Amino acid sequence: MKEQGKPHAGAHREKIIILDFGGQYSMLIARRIRELGVYCELLPYNTRLEELLEQKPVGIILSGSPASVYREGAPQSDPGLFESGIPVLGICYGMQLLTRQLGGKVVRGSRSEFGRTPFTVVEPNPLFTGGIFGDPAACCGWMSHQDEVLEPPPGFKVLARSENGTLAAIGDDSRKLYGLQFHPEVVHTPGGSEVLQRYLYDVCGCSGSWTPRSFIEEEVADIRARVGETERVVCALSGGVDSSVVAFLLDRALADRAVFIFVDHGLLRLGEAEQVTELYSRRLRGQFIHINARDRFLKKLEGVIDPEEKRQIIGHEFIDVFKEEALSMGDIAYLAQGTIYPDVIESGSVNGAAVIKSHHNVGGLPEELGFELIEPLRELFKDEVRLVGAELGLPEGMIKRQPFPGPGLAVRIIGDITAEKLRLLQQADAIFREEIDKAGLKDELWQYFAVLTGINVVGVKGDDRHYGPVIAIRAVTSEDAMTADWARLPLELLEKISARITGEIPEAARVVYDITSKPPGTIEWE
Ligand code: XMP
Repeated sequence: MKEQGKPHAGAHREKIIILDFGGQYSMLIARRIRELGVYCELLPYNTRLEELLEQKPVGIILSGSPASVYREGAPQSDPGLFESGIPVLGICYGMQLLTRQLGGKVVRGSRSEFGRTPFTVVEPNPLFTGGIFGDPAACCGWMSHQDEVLEPPPGFKVLARSENGTLAAIGDDSRKLYGLQFHPEVVHTPGGSEVLQRYLYDVCGCSGSWTPRSFIEEEVADIRARVGETERVVCALSGGVDSSVVAFLLDRALADRAVFIFVDHGLLRLGEAEQVTELYSRRLRGQFIHINARDRFLKKLEGVIDPEEKRQIIGHEFIDVFKEEALSMGDIAYLAQGTIYPDVIESGSVNGAAVIKSHHNVGGLPEELGFELIEPLRELFKDEVRLVGAELGLPEGMIKRQPFPGPGLAVRIIGDITAEKLRLLQQADAIFREEIDKAGLKDELWQYFAVLTGINVVGVKGDDRHYGPVIAIRAVTSEDAMTADWARLPLELLEKISARITGEIPEAARVVYDITSKPPGTIEWE
């Protein structure tokens, strides 16, 4: 990483560290903590203790894990952690690990608990106070475990018991060590956020300084400090939320010393390139360069049908176009780009998830370009990027823009790509988006778009036989694109969209609605 050795903008931030043991909710814990106004970072469970302490966390959370603590080779934390005086909260596996490492007993339970499980608070403690916990009968936690804590470690008290008798929470107030068998981070645990809030504010003594405004102030100061008084920064714009927020941050920090390059590959949605150009050239003080590279991309993509090959070609071509332009500008040492936190974690992932599609191939410019990287969003989750964007005054349409793949419509045209197919897809997609917008459903959907399926079928238009393409429309709900469900759009709306697409686009022969969730499908078709 280029930034090594440099004092980071957030170096002095109040921080919680989540040690990731590979549980499915680790990322969600991090998001919840941030939502509660406290900055946090995920680190691999085996991070050395000295390294952890150097970061001066005000609290440490041990995540869940698919492992069993008593199995050989189970992931462990450094036992010195519990002597460090830093408050620790173990969640699920984290609680079992803490129990075992501190001399308590964990066994494979006679019955597992999955899903909503009522529990009763049996001992007054700082985690379960007030609100919903004033009424012990109302407590309920989302559980997902087979192992259970049979005996808490010496010095710990049982704080809560599930209706099955298992230990739902344990704690040692004097050492500020706590364990929860349920998952406070999931929405199915009523009061879960309150438990985390109590841990952050009452146990760890957090002040809640993580806000979009404080982030912007820190980053602006950091960018200025790194770039100095005279140097310039170049920034690749894609029209998406992340690069737009970077652009507006640079604008605030450097005014006209930022140069923006928008490579228009011609694979954007109808009118998008024009909107982007209009917004940026009007609102940014630095030089804005719009490169119309549509023909160049189309030529490279001629006859290509394999989706991964399309991605590779677009990624390489993007870099080439950008490189030619950026290098022709002379003495610019810095390149800013919109890498966000999930990208950072994925690349250093504990589990090494399988690569299903080679994402992030557009916009991720290689180090060989010789620039020093500025990545102001590398600590942010997507929803935080949006909050920062709003605070910076970006238009709502830009902030709420649905995710759009870097390779654009190229992966929504099944088979080879031609100018004609692009035009057709853009039209169908525009109709679909307009209708969703009019129906007021935009904010409920994660993504909604049209796909040119590459299949031609027979139909009848007017009195004539018609042979033309099948257009698929897809709308999904999702939290994070890892899983998604197809949206139950009203039938009348689907009817209207179908009628408009086949009526307004002479070539379109048929419209189908995709009713596949993810998994087993993916959101995109390619
Ligand atoms: P899938 O299709 O894998 O998509 O379920 C998950 C999310 O990623 C987006 N996506 C991409 N984004 N480059 C990107 O930057 C890509 O090549 C790419 N492919 C899919 C997709 O739109 C969805 O939000």
